[in-house]
Amino acid sequence: MDAAAQASAHLAETSTADTGGASDSTPSGVFSASQAGRGRAVFVDLCSECHYTSEMRDAPFQFTWKRRTAWDLHRLVVRDMPEDAPGSLSNQQYIDVTAYILQLNGYPPGDLELVRDEAILRAIPMKKPAGTRP
Ligand code: HEC
Repeated sequence: MDAAAQASAHLAETSTADTGGASDSTPSGVFSASQAGRGRAVFVDLCSECHYTSEMRDAPFQFTWKRRTAWDLHRLVVRDMPEDAPGSLSNQQYIDVTAYILQLNGYPPGDLELVRDEAILRAIPMKKPAGTRP
């Protein structure tokens, strides 16, 4: 399956999860639990020198990010992080750590892996999904 086909399959899958009367159209299941686990390991190894995980989910973080998307977050992290070595992670590590930050912000894992696709990432608001606690 090429990237575009994978992207539309991914979007179809994530949006059908919401058609059963969910309170809003927030996509769910956009990454897998194992991917978020890998992202957590990346965070511990390569980000925690400068960041606490709480910093990536707390009220100031949400205030900054709630009107932006996972694409904005991913792009910032890829371009600027780690601050002392920007761009030094693999693409896989960057997308995995993005999945982990989504999990920190209340997104539940699902069956699919998050992939580095601008359309998919733009469809995921950083605002905490309805019904999740800060
Ligand atoms: C050497 C220290 C350092 C490391 C390592 C580092 N960061 Fe950062 N990070 C910073 C600093 C400093 C800022 C604030 C930059 C600014 O505001 O211009 C920042 C900002 C951020 C922000 C924006 C936070 C916000 O509230 O808007 C994110 C997201 C982020 N970092 C993610 C990461 C991730 C993910 C990693 C690991 C891949 C990482 N950083 C590794 C120093 C670091």
